[in-house]
Amino acid sequence: MIIREERIGGQRLILGDCREVMPLLGRFDAVVTDPPYGIGAAAGIGGGGTDATGRWKRRPRQYHGSWDDERPSADAFFAMAQLASEHIIWGGNFFADILPIGGRWLIWDKMNSMPSYSDAELAWTSIAGSSVKKFTQCASGPAANRDGRAHPTQKPVALMEWCLGFIPAAQIILDPYMGSGTTLVACQRTGRNGTGIELDPEYFEIACRRVDEAGRQPDLLIKAPQPQPVQRGFDL
Ligand SMILES: C[S@@+](CC[C@H](N)C(=O)[O-])C[C@H]1O[C@@H](n2cnc3c(N)ncnc32)[C@H](O)[C@@H]1O
Repeated sequence: MIIREERIGGQRLILGDCREVMPLLGRFDAVVTDPPYGIGAAAGIGGGGTDATGRWKRRPRQYHGSWDDERPSADAFFAMAQLASEHIIWGGNFFADILPIGGRWLIWDKMNSMPSYSDAELAWTSIAGSSVKKFTQCASGPAANRDGRAHPTQKPVALMEWCLGFIPAAQIILDPYMGSGTTLVACQRTGRNGTGIELDPEYFEIACRRVDEAGRQPDLLIKAPQPQPVQRGFDL
């Protein structure tokens, strides 16, 4: 069920459970997403970060919710597979027993100095070719702060723009696990139409704000995406 829907710039943001919403949607060129990994990330990461204005804010160590306690089921991956022919799925190593063997892997080198944190994150993709590609950007510090950290597992906007660059023909993108909306921010900045689905109302609000801000600071060299048409199987 769609609880709420916003269209901001060229992006469509849906508050709801993607397992219920995905069957209601039409086809997309690509699914680009970052699902829960099932490692309890909602409970333990945090302590502080910057807001959109760059000011440091202390956050409680405990994020609300338990959204990362379980990874999506095989059925949820099957539903994603039905909706597009191209896929980029961050956290692919946590779903390796469900995803097809092979695929072209992407790496985010997080330049971590904390031994207890992951050095890198992996994305499984359906992209043709076998060479593994790596993007390097520190998960903390000025680059991360520039994005305004709003979600415990927030991806850098530059990382999502980089991985969209591997599927240049894909203009209509779905992120069924939108979080704070980084995929849609990258879509807005690169002239694509994205649809994002998020279960948590607080993260949904943050995603709406971030997409709105991205629309207000367009890249003048890139044509802004048009608002999504109401036809084309996108509407209910
Ligand atoms: C790993 S986070 C995505 C973070 C995102 N990449 C970002 O940069 O902010 C996964 C998100 O999926 C959401 N989620 C979990 N189960 C969901 C479901 N069934 N439908 C929609 N969203 C869901 C969680 O609330 C969480 O915000």
